[in-house]
Order: sequence, then structure tokens, then C-alpha cells
Amino acid sequence: MPEVELPLNNSVSGVAESTSNASVLVIDDEAAIRESLELLLGLEGYNVKTAVDGEQGLRVLDQENFDIVLLDLALPGQSGMELLPLIKERQPDLPVIMITAYGTVDNVVEAIRNGAENFVQKPWDNEKLLADIRSAVARRKAEEENLQLKRTLKQRYNFTNIVGKSELMLKVFDLVAQVAPSRSTVLIQGESGTGKELIAKAIHANSPRKDKPFVPINTGAMPSELLESTLFGHVKGAFTSAIATKKGLFEVANGGTLFLDEIATMGLDTQSKILRVLQDKRFMHLGGIHEMQVDVRIIAATNLDLRQAVRDGLFREDLFYRLNVICVDLPPLRARREDIPLLANHFLEYYAKENGFEPRKLSAEAMRALMDYEWPGNVRELENAIERGVVLSSGPLIGSELLPGQRAART
Ligand SMILES: Nc1ncnc2c1ncn2[C@@H]1O[C@H](COP(=O)(O)OP(=O)(O)OP(=O)(O)O)[C@@H](O)[C@H]1O
Ligand SMILES: [Mg+2]
Repeated sequence: MPEVELPLNNSVSGVAESTSNASVLVIDDEAAIRESLELLLGLEGYNVKTAVDGEQGLRVLDQENFDIVLLDLALPGQSGMELLPLIKERQPDLPVIMITAYGTVDNVVEAIRNGAENFVQKPWDNEKLLADIRSAVARRKAEEENLQLKRTLKQRYNFTNIVGKSELMLKVFDLVAQVAPSRSTVLIQGESGTGKELIAKAIHANSPRKDKPFVPINTGAMPSELLESTLFGHVKGAFTSAIATKKGLFEVANGGTLFLDEIATMGLDTQSKILRVLQDKRFMHLGGIHEMQVDVRIIAATNLDLRQAVRDGLFREDLFYRLNVICVDLPPLRARREDIPLLANHFLEYYAKENGFEPRKLSAEAMRALMDYEWPGNVRELENAIERGVVLSSGPLIGSELLPGQRAART
């Protein structure tokens, strides 16, 4: 794997909000239709090209780049329905809006199955058509950007499966890239579901320890004795159920990284033992008499305010300072809404692939609902919503009714 390269600047290109400069190809045999679309779209700032039939349409498509195609269903010779798969074969991501006077339910279903974006009936409502075009072009731009961004993140930081383009997350990525190669202890703070474990793994994967184990343990979920025997191991007979000597996770993680998750609720006794390993890199098995030396990097995470826990006497101040050498603060999703479309597309792709489905898309309303929701469960909640949407949707388009964001949306 390539070494981590520190970024030269912070700009990972943003989405162009405007759809002007976008290019539209209109394929329709009726001159009056071509002319009125040319006028309507030209006035909106689109570059418009026209073709009179499928043959000409495909030829133009091979020569120039377009952002969207408006395709007449009833073309002479090759029909629009026959042409659609040929267009999709050449450019799978190019949105195609079907236009027809003869739209029946069957046509709509078949066209959408074959990858059409939408279906517009003649005579169309100009505002509605323009809105459909705008949202299809914007989505295509977002998808392209998503792909580009993933490539950049992979090249620049050697991150896989992490997406984000907000200022807040780019700062996090920079910090992660900077601290990863060191041995420093890292404290990751963030609400539930913000990606703490994912970032911990990225730090490990970008460190010289990457070929040694990454060992996660949820320290908040265990009673003290069990936690200590899990962390430090024990000798036979150390306590009633210790029927054999057992290695602890500090030994398992030797040379690698130990991820102490949910540390805020760990007992004070265990805290002092962990402090000792951090200071001396030494520890003993429970009930043991020999000290052992280990080389373990600690990454700790908490979704509670650790400073407050210190003030409340629930967390050792000295351990807090030991852990808090470098602090990565993960912002809640509602503070970085521009990451929502990226994350949504990332999960759409992932869950469609995992279930062996054709690619899925979110309807414009569904995307709006996601943007409006508060996401108290952060990225994890978004991921679950998209997975549910992918699994429950009957076709390639996921509507807002399938997403939970809809029920609790702000407006
Ligand atoms: N920036 C991101 N890009 C892609 N996936 C992400 C991102 N952030 C989080 N995820 C995904 O969201 C889910 C939750 O992330 P993770 O488990 O790391 O969060 P957490 O902060 O540890 O949550 P908790 O506090 O509930 O333990 C995971 O499936 C993770 O892969
Ligand atoms: Mg976690």
C-alpha cells in the first residue's frame, strides 16, 4: 500500500449548484417539438443539440458529451423504447427522460426498468419538465463527484470506505493523515454513529502498524473484573472461573492498535491499571507475578463529554490527559449536511451490490427528506435508512416513503 501523503490543500471540488452549461440532447422526429424544447432549454442556459431519429441520436452521443437526453417514445424506425437500452449500454450513468403522448402504465414501468430517469407526457408542463431536468442533472453531477471524491480520498489519504466533503470532515481527514504514522495516543470524541470506529480503523490502516492487529473492545459494556481479565489476561486460578491461563487483549494487540471504545463509563480501578500500561508499557496478568512488556498504540473513543466526566469525579484526570494527546472531534451529521448526498449514494451503491440488485437511486423528494432530517443517530442511522430503502423498494427508484427521515422531518 502506498504511504500516506499529506494533502497539499483542502479543496476537494464542490458540486456546481447551477445546471447552466449542462448539455441536453433532444431526440424527437417532430420539428415543432424539437424547436420548442430548444427554445425553452436554451433560455434556461442549457446547451441544446437535437436529433431526428435514433441513428442520428446515437451518432451525436458518440461525438459529444451530454448531461441528459430527452427521448421521444414514438420515433420512426427504432422506437424510443428500443433506443433506451442502446443509450444506457454506451453511457450507463447518462439520465434519459422519456417524452411521449402515448404514455401508458406499462410503458412507464418498462422504461424505468430499462433505466429511464422519468416519463413526461406531451403536452408537458414547462416548469415540471425543467424541474425534472434540473434534478436529474444535479444527481448525475453528485454521482460523478462522489466517484471523483472517493478516488481523491483513496489517493490522498489511502482511505477506503470513508466519504465526506464538508470542511469539518476534510479537517478530520487531514488530522487523521497527520497523526496516523505516529505512535501517539488518540482520543476520538463524537456522538453515537458519527464514525468513531471507522476513523480509528483508518488511523491504524495508515500507520506502520497496519499489518499487526487492530483490536477493538467496548470497555463500557463490561463489569470491571471481566473487563480487566479481558484486557490483561489472567493466570489459572486467579478467580473462580479462571480454569486456565488466558492471554489478554494487550498481548493480542502487541505491535498493533488497541481500540478502547466507550471509555467514559469504565470503572476507576480499571482506569488506573490502563494508565499504568500507558505510562510504563508494562502490565501483569490478573493473579500473575511477572510483568510483561507490550508495544501497543491506544486509540480511545467516547460519545460522552470526557472533561465533564473528569469534573464529576468519574474519570481520572491523569488518564484523561494521557489519552487526550491528540483529540479528533467527529461532528454530528446535522452539522455537515453537505455530506448527506455523498453518504447516501455511497450506501446505496454498497447495499445494492451486497443484495445483488441493480443500482438504486433516490427520488428527488427522498433526497430532500434526507437533507431535512436531523439524524440523531448520525451516519449509522442514515446507513440503516438507506439499507432499508434498498431492500424494501420494488424498483430502481427509492421514494421518500421508504425512508424514516420522512416521518420526523423538520418541515
Ligand atoms: N464518513 C463516513 N463514510 C462512510 N461511512 C461512514 C462514515 N462515517 C460513518 N460511517 C459508517 O456508519 C456506521 C457507524 O460508524 P461507526 O461504527 O464508526 O460509528 P461510531 O461513532 O463508532 O458509533 P457508536 O457510537 O454507535 O459506536 C458504520 O457502518 C460506518 O462504516
Ligand atoms: Mg462505535
